[in-house]
Amino acid sequence: MPNANTLLNNGYKILNNSLCRSSKLDAEVLLSSVLKKKIEEIVLTRSILVSKEDETNYQRLIFRRKQGEPIAYILNKKEFWKNTFYVNKNVLIPRPDTEVIVEEAIKLIDKTKQKLILDIGTGSGCIIISLLKERPNIIDHYNVKSKILPLKKLKILDIGCGGGLLCEPMSRLGAEVTGIDASQKNINVAKIHSKKKKLNIKYICSSPENLRINKKFDIILNMEIIEHVDDVKLFLRNSSKFLKKNGIMYVATLNKTLKSYLFAIVGAEYILRWLPIGTHEWNKFVKPSELVSHAKANSMRIKKVDGVVFNPLNNTWDINNDKSVNYIALFEKV
Ligand SMILES: C[S@@+](CC[C@H](N)C(=O)[O-])C[C@H]1O[C@@H](n2cnc3c(N)ncnc32)[C@H](O)[C@@H]1O
Repeated sequence: MPNANTLLNNGYKILNNSLCRSSKLDAEVLLSSVLKKKIEEIVLTRSILVSKEDETNYQRLIFRRKQGEPIAYILNKKEFWKNTFYVNKNVLIPRPDTEVIVEEAIKLIDKTKQKLILDIGTGSGCIIISLLKERPNIIDHYNVKSKILPLKKLKILDIGCGGGLLCEPMSRLGAEVTGIDASQKNINVAKIHSKKKKLNIKYICSSPENLRINKKFDIILNMEIIEHVDDVKLFLRNSSKFLKKNGIMYVATLNKTLKSYLFAIVGAEYILRWLPIGTHEWNKFVKPSELVSHAKANSMRIKKVDGVVFNPLNNTWDINNDKSVNYIALFEKV
């Protein structure tokens, strides 16, 4: 019985010879679909044995790809906006740049208050279905009416803001944003960037325990930070002091599981080299149940916990139920 490694190498070779530009990724995607496993699992455990039947199915898919058939048609699916759409040869494959149309249509619909939409040449339905499904959490929580500047009048505190990756889009959506970070270097980068983009964001070099401002916020973002702090309970206590009653806090972090050790440390740091080695310490990862109990001790009730999973098919991160590695929790101050 061949193993995944042998099949992947054969697949790369065949696709490379046919001048396929993404031979490595394509072979991995096709094998992962045949074996019904995540692509990271196959790449990390290349010694897994593959049955004769799966080998034949994989070779059939490699042959179709070699003939120039797009991956989306072979797998009958394509990611677009936040959803996966069924596609076959009868429809065009949704393109990433078409997402701009969805964005513009949302603005137009809210501006004109039109409720009747006609999608001419609907194809896979990607535009109309994306429009109908577009209803983010924040908009619902605050019953926001304007979606041209949907976060207008909302005060947001981004803790551990880094270079301002999240502060900037929040500010562009109309929010009054304050970003804090313990690193002066990061704050300097964030300030330079927001100045260039002509955005009015208040950046302060501070951690929540040292923050001296007399202001409370509607939304606090603690994204990818608590897995770096020594005392999560204390950190949440100091963060929640700045949250208004009924205000919401998002916490995105890493679960403490064997899988998170394999994926977030061994995979992301040592194999794929997405992050420098030593970025994460597994001991500091937090289980959702621990996070919820720390939050509860600080007068925050859990509203929602979602898993966040990397989708190698189109290089994006999706929200779903799998919380075993990355997850995002939404709390409300009571
Ligand atoms: C992994 S980065 C996340 C950046 C950003 N939140 C994002 O999601 O793109 C973590 C950031 O938290 C900052 N940080 C770590 N501990 C902190 C603390 N106690 N108070 C404030 N910032 C902190 C680091 O300097 C770093 O910029």
